[in-house]
Amino acid sequence: MDYRRLGDSDLRVSEICLGTWTTFGGSLEEDAALAVVDAAFEHGINFFDTANVYSEGRSEEVLGRALASRPRDTFVVATKVFGEMPNGDRGLSREQVLKQIDESLRRLQLDHVDLYQCHSWDDEVPVEETLGALTEVVDAGKARFIGISNWSGDQIRNAVVLARERGYAKIVSSQPEYSLLHREAEGDVIPASRENGVSQIVYSPLAQGVLSGKYRPGEPWDEGTRAAARGDGFMSRYLGDDMLERVERLRPIAEQLGATMPQLALAWILREPNVASAIVGSSRPEQLRDNAAASGVELDEAALQAIDDVLA
Ligand SMILES: NC(=O)c1ccc[n+]([C@@H]2O[C@H](COP(=O)([O-])OP(=O)(O)OC[C@H]3O[C@@H](n4cnc5c(N)ncnc54)[C@H](OP(=O)(O)O)[C@@H]3O)[C@@H](O)[C@H]2O)c1
Repeated sequence: MDYRRLGDSDLRVSEICLGTWTTFGGSLEEDAALAVVDAAFEHGINFFDTANVYSEGRSEEVLGRALASRPRDTFVVATKVFGEMPNGDRGLSREQVLKQIDESLRRLQLDHVDLYQCHSWDDEVPVEETLGALTEVVDAGKARFIGISNWSGDQIRNAVVLARERGYAKIVSSQPEYSLLHREAEGDVIPASRENGVSQIVYSPLAQGVLSGKYRPGEPWDEGTRAAARGDGFMSRYLGDDMLERVERLRPIAEQLGATMPQLALAWILREPNVASAIVGSSRPEQLRDNAAASGVELDEAALQAIDDVLA
């Protein structure tokens, strides 16, 4: 496993991060989630992503139990605030940020997280209020660094300037969706981040499993896959036959490189120097082993061109 520096921070994170959305406290029994965390450490993954809102807080609780017996300096934990909790709490007001960090720390059984992220932009709260509250969180030692997710390039630029002018804690990471099937971040988010010491830690790098090549056009989805469980949700945009046929055309490129399909998709993400880590979900230790081995897979010019030709 190779490691990269997270933006202008001193955090060194594994190129593959384990994400816990839908799985921890959700589709996975606790023993299965603990086995995935064991596999993460075995394969050199030191970076874990969760959010207060995932499985109504249970994702943080399960991750907390999985990490409880490990030395604190062996892992980097990122969580998020914004989404609506079962009691109606939501958003990025000062009151919410200060309340939600304490609740996340309690569920995670930690005295600080390494990265505290705004899960989304909040139209209802001035960004100065949010950045001020996040700075209080950092000053109190409850988070080492702050990050954002699902913000536009302009929102990132504006917040970086405000932080510089007013002494707010620096934003070191951005968490957009980014994959071979969803390249929007290349337009503005990556350029804005590159200029400002902000790294990407990207979500759904396998398009929720579609880029693993396990869903074949015209064939039913296997039981036990995310598509079978929740394919009618926002995963459906990747499950049409047109999309699956394009994914099939990536298979010979992976074979030529001696890589698996997930490794091809993840190595393609990691070709971008502004990416610090690809956050993958994994429902089994074998999946995580496969995904972790993408670190170190090099894509040469011919492979990159062949990929662009398939997806053009
Ligand atoms: N900030 C945000 O708004 C946001 C949004 C979404 C996600 N996230 C973060 O990003 C993380 C990753 O997102 P994601 O779960 O959508 O990512 P993903 O890595 O694109 O998809 C993960 C799913 O794909 C399947 N899979 C993974 N590796 C596989 C392999 N080697 N072979 C076959 N199937 C494989 C598994 O599902 P099955 O085995 O069930 O099929 C797994 O749960 C989340 O856990 C969360 O931490 C953040």
